[in-house]
Amino acid sequence: MKIHTKAVHAGDRKKAQSQIPVATPVHFAASWITEDTAELDRIFGDEQKGFSYSRYDNPTNAALEELMTSLESGAGALACASGMAALEHALKAALLDRRKSVVCARDIYGATIKLLMDVLGPFGIETAFVDTNDLAAVAQALDEHKPGALLMETISNPLLRVGALDEIAKLCRARSAALIVDNTFASPLLMRPLELGAHLVVHSTTKYLGGHGDTLGGLVISDEEHLATVRRLSRVAGPVLGPMEAFLTMRGVKTFALRMERQCHNARALAAWLRAHPRVAAVYYPDDPAHPDAAVVRRLLPEGLYGGMVSFEIAGLERTGIFAFLDRLKLIVKATSLGDVHTMVLHPWISSHRDVPMKQKERMGIKENLVRLSVGIEAVEDIISDLEQALA
Ligand SMILES: Cc1ncc(COP(=O)(O)O)c(C=O)c1O
Repeated sequence: MKIHTKAVHAGDRKKAQSQIPVATPVHFAASWITEDTAELDRIFGDEQKGFSYSRYDNPTNAALEELMTSLESGAGALACASGMAALEHALKAALLDRRKSVVCARDIYGATIKLLMDVLGPFGIETAFVDTNDLAAVAQALDEHKPGALLMETISNPLLRVGALDEIAKLCRARSAALIVDNTFASPLLMRPLELGAHLVVHSTTKYLGGHGDTLGGLVISDEEHLATVRRLSRVAGPVLGPMEAFLTMRGVKTFALRMERQCHNARALAAWLRAHPRVAAVYYPDDPAHPDAAVVRRLLPEGLYGGMVSFEIAGLERTGIFAFLDRLKLIVKATSLGDVHTMVLHPWISSHRDVPMKQKERMGIKENLVRLSVGIEAVEDIISDLEQALA
């Protein structure tokens, strides 16, 4: 079944009674009554499927988890309260029976770096950063640090690098390291990391999957090997999503493939327009034949679908010039997120990558005049008009 079809059918319409709601209801219950205590005993013991307590499982969350398991070709999933909660949970599940160290892609979301350094670091989890676009460097880092897990993004935030996930999966598997992939930027329309050999996939569903800027959430989609650990740890640690958010996310997911296609087409048109603009010094978008990862892009991304994010540098502008440019935008929403139906702009230097140490920002290639656009579903001419007047 194609992903567009799965997105509108999977997870919903459980045959628990003769009238079946077309959409999964929001189950606002902290716990369930089971008349037969022997049955409750089987549910607690995982011998029978059923619901007992919402920290363990909730029917609305279960529907979303089933949907995302289907879209990402996983064995199962866990809906979490945010993308960061999902990342932390995936790392804990991967490292539980492995060495407590991580090799992390150098090009990655700023808060992910902080999660590793400031949250997990003090608990003894060591992190080494590597350029995941250099396979020899990845192999060397794996051999040197012998990490329990390697963490990377499919399309990196904010410079849109695309690593050879399939090759990296082979390197990890040969060394028994778990490969955890944040697939937020690509979405399962563009890439399905579990099909390429990853062990755990993470999403911030706050972005493309939710898509409407109205709900925070995250998901861990697991392979067979890690699923029991993902679910077991969550029962105790309780990083779970609320049922209302699960409902909203699921509603968003139904249209994500359509939105994503439109966003990819708009982003491609915008990247071409920006490249031709005299005030634009550099454009980062994976359709560029001169993109440093062009060969990987051709191999791993579907033809014509290179994501809805475009980053660019404005020539000759420092901090205050960038601020003035941002303040001139009228249609494009200045807000700290991405993947929504409306086009959004962000200044990585002061927001998503604000706390990344200066040296690391330099190594990543993030400059003060870099602007990151999350392209929406509007008519692309209107987005261009807004950029044109703000760049003038
Ligand atoms: C690539 C990526 N992963 C994870 C996250 C974290 O998601 P959340 O804000 O839902 O915790 C973000 C947030 O911007 C992100 O861009």
